[in-house]
Amino acid sequence: MAILNVRQLGDEVLKKKCKPVRMITPRIRQLVEDMFDTMYESGGVGLAAPQVGILKRIVVIDCTPEPEPGTEPKEEDALKFVMINPVITETSGEQTGYEGCLSYVGMSGVVTRPDQVTVEFTGLDGETCTLTGEGLLARAICHECDHLDGIMYTQKVEGEIITNEELERRLEEAKKNEENAMNAENAEA
Ligand code: NI
Repeated sequence: MAILNVRQLGDEVLKKKCKPVRMITPRIRQLVEDMFDTMYESGGVGLAAPQVGILKRIVVIDCTPEPEPGTEPKEEDALKFVMINPVITETSGEQTGYEGCLSYVGMSGVVTRPDQVTVEFTGLDGETCTLTGEGLLARAICHECDHLDGIMYTQKVEGEIITNEELERRLEEAKKNEENAMNAENAEA
């Protein structure tokens, strides 16, 4: 297990276009393993190789939902992927929501992404894969593929970038407003 140093916004390496992987070597496999370790350690759902200073087209994603309380995680629910040389081939729909990045720790901003994304990539065993993801997975695929072209979400953000504490406060407030609205409706009924 190795935790790699995650480069932060402003680092030149995050602005570079990454090179395709030609061969899946033991070094690449080790890098992928370390990227997962690093991602889990930081509580992220995705990580791209340039974020750990490697200018290669590799991303790891794990958007597996938490299992229902009291139940075991099911294998078919897993949304864990290694994508080598990913290319987004199709997108549809739209989702607007908060997004963060391990290269800009503790901050979030609103980004609009497609709601459904089809991506073609090479898997760790050299197999060609096609995957269609939606919701959080679609967002993660777009976000990580952007990293491979030197693009940070901060370039696509709508409005201000806020701290995660502020985000929490706003989500709490939105929830309260919703509850109040529901109570008002019930009172009218
Ligand atoms: Ni990121």
